[in-house]
Amino acid sequence: MIEVQDLAVAYGHGRREIAAVDSISFSVGTGELVSMVGPSGCGKSTILYALDGLIKPTAGRILIGGDEVRGIRRDVALILQDAGLLPWKTVRENAALAMLLQGIKEDIQSTLETLGLSGFESRFPGELSEGMKRRVGIARALALHPRVLLMDEPMANLDSLTRERIQNLLLDLWNTLHFTGVLVTHDIEEAVFLGHRILIMSPRPARLTEVLENPEAGSVDYRGSKAFHERVAYLRTKLGAVES
Ligand SMILES: Nc1ncnc2c1ncn2[C@@H]1O[C@H](COP(=O)(O)OP(=O)(O)OP(=O)(O)O)[C@@H](O)[C@H]1O
Ligand SMILES: [Mg+2]
Repeated sequence: MIEVQDLAVAYGHGRREIAAVDSISFSVGTGELVSMVGPSGCGKSTILYALDGLIKPTAGRILIGGDEVRGIRRDVALILQDAGLLPWKTVRENAALAMLLQGIKEDIQSTLETLGLSGFESRFPGELSEGMKRRVGIARALALHPRVLLMDEPMANLDSLTRERIQNLLLDLWNTLHFTGVLVTHDIEEAVFLGHRILIMSPRPARLTEVLENPEAGSVDYRGSKAFHERVAYLRTKLGAVES
């Protein structure tokens, strides 16, 4: 479904050029959810922006459903770290924003209900808890009924209980909607809980260091299992080694 072939991305030009991503290839199968982890500043967000068609690769190409990505498209949605809510717009307006930008006219209510936001439609972001704000960000992306959901640390800076609830919610959504997903996260347990495979990236410029198979992911009980804890420990060592 997603094929990334020799992707390279650089920012700036000439002597100021910064290589952010260096010749990465990977694929994500239809309905598969993969996690991506790596040191801060290594180029993870850059990869997601390229997948979303927001920035153009310097080299290589990205195919989604067999078509080369050349700009933003209706079947691909991106969730940003801080949910990207506009403070002067209500929950309903914020959730409908991506639909509006893509010219889609559809009722947002059922999506708000799925995310437990009914009753809060007319509230403003400043009146919501952090967890609710993230759910509005997720609603905004899901309202597009995307085939591909790209997530850039959607649970960052949440308290651990809220974080776990939203992880469970994402798992539920994935189990019902079967989207193809790429989840960038700094949280090792989150990467293992949600990703069927875990892409481990090198320091900048991002290269793929290892792909960790994690076939048990996809059920809420996985968190308590021995395999889960072993994989978390492995990944922790691996990332510690990469960063030192
Ligand atoms: N617009 C830009 N212009 C120049 N350099 C940039 C730009 N955006 C990002 N970079 C650089 O590219 C590199 C990769 O950035 P990116 O945001 O993709 O990293 P990241 O892995 O998402 O980091 P983090 O984990 O901290 O979110 C960084 O070194 C960053 O400084
Ligand atoms: Mg980032």
